[in-house]
Amino acid sequence: MISSQAALHAAYGGVVPEVAARHHLENICPVIEKAMADAGTTFPELDAVAVTQGPGLVGALLVGVQVAKSIAFVHGKPLVPVHHIAGHLEAPGLGADVPFPALALVVSGGHTSLFEMAARGQYHLLGRTRDDAAGEAFDKVAKLLGLGYPGGPVIDRLSEGANDRAHEFTIARIKDGRPDFSFSGVKTAVLYHVRREGIAPVADPAAAPAEIRDLVASFQRAVVTALLRKLKEAAQARRPRSLILTGGVAANRRLRRDAATLAEELGLPLFVPPIALSTDNAAMIAAAGQVAFEQGRRGGWDLDADPHLPLG
Ligand code: KG4
Ligand code: ZN
Repeated sequence: MISSQAALHAAYGGVVPEVAARHHLENICPVIEKAMADAGTTFPELDAVAVTQGPGLVGALLVGVQVAKSIAFVHGKPLVPVHHIAGHLEAPGLGADVPFPALALVVSGGHTSLFEMAARGQYHLLGRTRDDAAGEAFDKVAKLLGLGYPGGPVIDRLSEGANDRAHEFTIARIKDGRPDFSFSGVKTAVLYHVRREGIAPVADPAAAPAEIRDLVASFQRAVVTALLRKLKEAAQARRPRSLILTGGVAANRRLRRDAATLAEELGLPLFVPPIALSTDNAAMIAAAGQVAFEQGRRGGWDLDADPHLPLG
């Protein structure tokens, strides 16, 4: 059960924190009521209440934390705080038996990170982006071209069948040997190209000309190549038993296809959640909550939202 605010924020070209918090407040109770009704369950039947403690926008997080605390308090249930990224990392385990250790690439609007998981609930950070997240780069490039928000799905769609070799956008390689990422350079390269060629933002993304479709396809190829190059290098160094691709950008068709090819080449099983579980959702928070619950993790009544919560 997902209540998306994407259409609402599209008018502003990105998420407006105050608007997001207010709409969370309006939607959270009807969404919970509908989810419970659809599942045919009642509050007394629950084992625990899991909630995203962070990271994220503090206003939105606060709404979730207060509501979760209220439900847990009223019904005498344990409260389990969850890290947003732990949710993305546990999403593939919903309905699949992932062999561990696993190497996991999390690509979202706020994060681009590589984790090693020795088991469910164990997250060891190997590398992350030094500047923009991959999804952020998609969103910024889309905004620049008038393609709307969120930009990832539009670029994904426009790139299908376009010429991804029209431009060579290179992505900086981090030279100190760490499996870190950097995406602000490629975004700037697209910006310079747009200025140099005098490309105007499109009025209707569905009618984007070939010039723009080739441009975003080339950009997408550069991002996907950089992501999978790091995943491949880490897989060769760490020798995991499986690969995980997760987070909003994991909905990208090109990334999914190329990751499948890489997994085959490496002889490893690849786990990618279905699209609805790749982009932000509550089921993944429940999945991470279950693991944390079994590990004995509990939040007190003083649990507070933490916009900069670290993982692990
Ligand atoms: O995980 P997510 O839903 O929210 C965050 O935790 O950030 O990820 C949202 C990000 C946005 O930047 C959006 O543009 C990107 O995921 N995204 C995509 C696609 N669908 C969503 N990026 C590329 N291709 C897609 N199909
Ligand atoms: Zn997310």
